[in-house]
Amino acid sequence: MKRINIGLLGYGTVGSGVATILINNQYDISTRTGSNISIKKAFVRNLLKERPFSEQIAFTNNPDEIIEDPEIDIIVEVMGGIEPARSYIIKSLQRGKHIVTANKDLLALHGDELFQIAEQNKRELCFEASVAGGIPIIAAIKQSLTANRLFSIMGIINGTTNYILSAMTEQGRDFQDVLQEAQELGYAEADPTSDIEGIDAARKLAILSTLAFNTKVNLSDVFVEGITKITATDIQYAKELDCVIKLLAIAKNRKRGIEVRVHPALLPKNHPLATVSGVYNAIYLTGDAIGEAMFYGQGAGSLPTGSAVVSDIIQIVKNIASESKVIDSINNYRNYPIKAAYDFTTSYYIRLKVKDEPRVFATMALYFAEAGISFKSIIQKPRSNNNAEIVLVTHPCKESQLRQALDSLSSYEKLDKIYNVIRLEANCI
Ligand code: NAP
Ligand code: HSE
Repeated sequence: MKRINIGLLGYGTVGSGVATILINNQYDISTRTGSNISIKKAFVRNLLKERPFSEQIAFTNNPDEIIEDPEIDIIVEVMGGIEPARSYIIKSLQRGKHIVTANKDLLALHGDELFQIAEQNKRELCFEASVAGGIPIIAAIKQSLTANRLFSIMGIINGTTNYILSAMTEQGRDFQDVLQEAQELGYAEADPTSDIEGIDAARKLAILSTLAFNTKVNLSDVFVEGITKITATDIQYAKELDCVIKLLAIAKNRKRGIEVRVHPALLPKNHPLATVSGVYNAIYLTGDAIGEAMFYGQGAGSLPTGSAVVSDIIQIVKNIASESKVIDSINNYRNYPIKAAYDFTTSYYIRLKVKDEPRVFATMALYFAEAGISFKSIIQKPRSNNNAEIVLVTHPCKESQLRQALDSLSSYEKLDKIYNVIRLEANCI
């Protein structure tokens, strides 16, 4: 049986999951691949830390012991961050190694460069684990759905924020309180900024939409808004409107360009994504042949993410055996224009406080009417000091129209405060 040696750059949450799967499922994997796949060495920072399988795996703090080892065929980068991960991958490709990575931060910023170097060196650069952990969405888009013209992707692709919003919805708790719990449970990073500000989801969306629409989508193309302004009150109003609030990653392939955005949104309770709760991820997409499809599973964690990494390793091992390759040339990408935020069309939820007096609602409605915006539903609740809290839900309109209405409204003396403006997504087509 052919022997394939793996080198791991990093042996933390994901790296140890990869080792667990390769070791525990060794018999099945060798039967499926006809190869004996083993981890020759793992690169870590701290050689003194206790690690699973330390009796079977050699550890080093010198990356060259892996990158320069002629017996290592595949290098798995699961250390994270930009540098030195980027330089190690480049050097490894130049030394003829195939690469598997889970690093969405790196791919969203330097994907082009890395794929080019992989192509020049005729080596694979696989990244299933970089989006939605254990959900095989990259393989689905690249292979299973490749016959389709994909129209749209709508996903819950950050587990931390979904955990926070789910707990706020199900237990009526406040954002800060649940964030702290998510950190204690190890879901959110020590610095959770990229999760709660939507940046992690935006990186994953850039990767997904590039593949799905065959056009280059950069991280800077994605409109991003996080969940930090969502309050328990907004969640309560969402319930009254038969909706839930989710952090959605949305990509649409339109005649006039690609629309890519990550933001919190009200979603009708009967939408397939509305029931995705806790740290789970899901991706709902539409295509001309498949119609609608949804992929659901664990978006993070040692074994689910390890499962995605090992699937890439197995694919590479099969390709080595059959002397074929899976590389998709990045030169095939088209260059569709990216739509600006003011051009997005959605419905809006607007929560505000105004004086509870005659003509106030009529004046406010006039500002919206002048911007060509029509209301779909309205909730008004009396508050103290002759004030009223009002929630307006609009019919779909352009963001530029909404900005015009809010600009006019902001100088109205009877307006006390605009608490929040949240988009509302009814469907994805
Ligand atoms: P982690 O638990 O922090 O592990 C990182 C590993 O890399 C550790 O073994 C660490 O060594 C090593 N490392 C990091 N920087 C290093 C450096 N400069 N020099 C030497 N060793 C270094 O991270 P993780 O959660 O496994 O994440 C790894 C990658 O997978 C990231 O790109 C992440 O975005 C991605 N990912 C993670 C998940 C998840 O559920 N965790 C899901 C999807 C994708 P020490 O052990 O000695 O500190
Ligand atoms: N921080 C990420 C999340 C980990 O919460 O989804 C998986 O990429």
